[in-house]
Amino acid sequence: MATSSTNEKKPGVIILGGCGFIGRNLVAYLIDNKLVSYLRIVDKVPPQTAWLNKHHQEIFDNPLVEFKSANLINPTSCQNAFASDKTIDFVFNCAGEIKSGQTDPVYREGIYKLSINCAQQAANIGVKHFVEISSGNMNSSEKAPLREDDPTEPWTFVAKHKLQVENDLKNIPNLSYTILRPAIVYGLGDKSGLAPRLIIGAVYKHLGEMMKLLWSPGLHMNTVHVKDVARAMWFVANRTDTIGQIYNIVDDSDSTQGSISAMVSELFNINHDYWGTALSTLAKTDMNTVVEEVNDKHMGPWAEACNKDGIENSPLSPYIDQELLYNKHLYLHTKKLSNIGFHYDYPKLIKDALKDMLDDYVSMKIFPHSLVI
Ligand SMILES: *[C@@H]1O[C@H](CO)[C@@H](O)[C@H](O)[C@H]1NC(C)=O
Ligand SMILES: *[C@@H]1O[C@H](CO)[C@@H](O)[C@H](O)[C@H]1NC(C)=O
Ligand SMILES: *[C@@H]1O[C@H](CO)[C@@H](O)[C@H](O)[C@H]1NC(C)=O
Repeated sequence: MATSSTNEKKPGVIILGGCGFIGRNLVAYLIDNKLVSYLRIVDKVPPQTAWLNKHHQEIFDNPLVEFKSANLINPTSCQNAFASDKTIDFVFNCAGEIKSGQTDPVYREGIYKLSINCAQQAANIGVKHFVEISSGNMNSSEKAPLREDDPTEPWTFVAKHKLQVENDLKNIPNLSYTILRPAIVYGLGDKSGLAPRLIIGAVYKHLGEMMKLLWSPGLHMNTVHVKDVARAMWFVANRTDTIGQIYNIVDDSDSTQGSISAMVSELFNINHDYWGTALSTLAKTDMNTVVEEVNDKHMGPWAEACNKDGIENSPLSPYIDQELLYNKHLYLHTKKLSNIGFHYDYPKLIKDALKDMLDDYVSMKIFPHSLVI
């Protein structure tokens, strides 16, 4: 097969935030499956300091991949990030401030301004499709899964600003876009999805104590594998019936705090229980104190466990932000994306997928190996 001529027909793409968790997995999916002729990664973090695993490092060294450093909040820097003599067909936006505990203006810049800058540039260079990763935390629903067109009441800073992005993408002339709202994303490279839950499990293993959790096992914490997120991004980009649409990306597990904690407990061979209504109700009125106590309880022992196994530096942390500890359900309807023919490779969250994450962390020497069975 004449590789060069088939390559010419394959799309050129830009992945914004390509060094991040979802971004690096999208890069890997497109390169591993030979789907692109050219791939530009834009990120403010260089790959060398992004804690890539070995496979992702190799992918990033592929000759089709080019890295460009940019601060996408800055319009000039953003414009440079898009400047190219190559044809860019698709732009995937996985960039945005996700670090917890920032102020509202920081999220406004790091999410709203960033996405709108990028969408405008994408329209300027006439791309076929702009895919925006939004947030699944657009409302809390306990009884019925949320559909894409249900009324919204975003319950995290990120979701609040992403909702504004969703609304304002409509007003950008000549922009063909699709919005994806992921549930909790897990998989290799995860630091903020299910990772903190795993790290907390390890902390209780280290302490030799029962893992105590807020609220109840029934708290919906729906999930999706990062590889399915990457596949879904590509799936929507290569179609026109997805233009202007919003899709939840969520597996069929209907994961809950209970189902996830059961797997974490099995992985670390620990017991778990819930604080029950007394403390959890107290938490409602004094969430600051409770969150501080919960995080303090975990941070020290985590550092200790890392030290013990000779880990001096790890990007992983058991810290859970206050807004993610509220009694808010992440319960998303699965059907809209499946109805247009998307199939999930990971329809159920299973313990083995979490074990793969642990093994990957251990291989990178960022997780205490002696706590992983
Ligand atoms: C979602 O948000 C709206 C407010 O926009 C609220 O009225 C509604 O009850 C919420 N819940 C669900 C499940 O839609
Ligand atoms: C949008 O695209 C049309 C047709 O390609 C073009 O005539 C028009 O100038 C574009 N508008 C903007 C604002 O770029
Ligand atoms: C897009 O989908 C069509 C089929 O609908 C397929 O033939 C084509 O190879 C796909 N293109 C890419 C870039 O995936």
